[in-house]
Amino acid sequence: MLRSVLLYLSEQKRLQNFVLGSKFARKRSRRFVAGETLDEAIGAVRGLNARGMDVTLDHLGECVESEDQADKATDDYIRILDRLAAESGVEATISIKPTQIGLAIDRDLCLKNMRRLAESASAQGNFVRMDMEASCYVDSTLSVFYELSDEFKNIGAVIQSYLRRSEDDVRELSRRGAPVRLCKGAYKEPAQLAFQKKQEIDDSYVKLLEILMDSDAPVGIATHDDLMIDAGKRLIRARPDRKAHVEFQMLYGIRRDMQARLVEERYGMRVYVPYGTEWYPYFMRRMAERPANLFFALRAMGGK
Ligand code: FDA
Repeated sequence: MLRSVLLYLSEQKRLQNFVLGSKFARKRSRRFVAGETLDEAIGAVRGLNARGMDVTLDHLGECVESEDQADKATDDYIRILDRLAAESGVEATISIKPTQIGLAIDRDLCLKNMRRLAESASAQGNFVRMDMEASCYVDSTLSVFYELSDEFKNIGAVIQSYLRRSEDDVRELSRRGAPVRLCKGAYKEPAQLAFQKKQEIDDSYVKLLEILMDSDAPVGIATHDDLMIDAGKRLIRARPDRKAHVEFQMLYGIRRDMQARLVEERYGMRVYVPYGTEWYPYFMRRMAERPANLFFALRAMGGK
């Protein structure tokens, strides 16, 4: 119930403007967001790299409403790729939201922009992950991904274990040898499309992970859940030849203890580092995952 309310609030523009204006909320968001500028994000990347962790950078923003905005978001990401290439000793890939580069306007606009990003990343020896958004975008996101994946090997997809359709998608992606990040899924979805109970979502996660581990493709085990992490370790132990192609992935600021422990245990560990001024929907989804954090959000909304 609380999760549904928070996910609903995450989409409210007026509340967004109010919260973005609150100094307290901005300070609170820093637990999950590396800063508002690329310089701050690069600083966070350096710190994580020094602790043996890889990074994927997310320039926050979603669902643009015009072609110009989509092109601009793409240009911004190309500048990030250029900056990453120019900085010595900084290792980070990028993660993009398809609606940020035009998917909600026109699938072909997203395709055009995603191609620009894949080309730019390829020239820099870098990698672009297409985040997965709400279920209405899954078909179009995968169709853009499939169209480009024959041409570019430096792009990856995301699968959400809460979606009932995901087993078919994982089998298709595995057949193509596509890099997949597996997560549980962060949006509010109806019961006909998505499992609602934690046990069902977890069972689906393990089943999908087994399929991915049986393929030859790189796998990102994106979770903070001990049960999923243990399942990942068990599957890696059963297939030691896959260890170099599998990494755990966690969000910036969440379970930092576990992130460090996985590095100590010599597993690949990638941290998803969001930054930028448009942190509100991202921040609210993190609240929805752990309502204990709500206390801070409510104080923030009160502007204290
Ligand atoms: P679950 O939510 O069951 O949490 C397990 C435990 O982790 C909790 O008991 C708590 O201890 C800890 N935890 C989880 N969330 C926390 C929080 N916010 N604050 C503090 N502790 C917390 N989703 C999506 O739909 N599309 C995408 O592209 C991505 N991409 C993505 C990348 C990466 C690297 C990660 C880690 C996650 C995503 N997600 C995502 C989000 C994902 O779908 C999911 O919503 C969150 O990871 C929470 O699910 P968990 O697997 O962590 O388990």
